[in-house]
Amino acid sequence: MKTILITGGTNGIGKGLARYFLQKGDCVIVVGSTAAKGEKFNLEAQKLGAEARAHFLQADLSLIQENLRIIEIIKNRFPSLRSACPVRSSSKVQHNLC
Ligand SMILES: NC(=O)c1ccc[n+]([C@@H]2O[C@H](COP(=O)([O-])OP(=O)(O)OC[C@H]3O[C@@H](n4cnc5c(N)ncnc54)[C@H](OP(=O)(O)O)[C@@H]3O)[C@@H](O)[C@H]2O)c1
Repeated sequence: MKTILITGGTNGIGKGLARYFLQKGDCVIVVGSTAAKGEKFNLEAQKLGAEARAHFLQADLSLIQENLRIIEIIKNRFPSLRSACPVRSSSKVQHNLC
């Protein structure tokens, strides 16, 4: 089981990636700024029977301080996380890391 981090994992491409890795049996951490989308992610993980492997972290990643806070949380709670590959837009911070 791998641990996968997907920033922007509560919608669109990131959400699709999150579902794929949960179905594969991996541990998935998603980051998004909207609590309601995080709750929806948790519900969907429950339906897949994957709630123990699904983790939503709420953060506004357009803010440097929030990025630093999330990095600290991940280092402490998910030390098995090894790699990340970012996809991001030029206008707003909408990026997916897996
Ligand atoms: N969709 C496509 O066909 C397509 C094609 C090529 C490239 N892309 C690129 O792929 C990326 C994702 O596209 P998408 O269509 O999947 O976007 P999307 O549906 O709008 O999803 C964006 C994700 O990023 C999160 N997000 C946005 N701003 C955030 C912030 N400040 N802090 C934390 N999380 C934030 C959103 O959650 P919250 O709203 O809760 O923050 C959501 O989970 C973009 O860079 C886009 O340009 C997309």
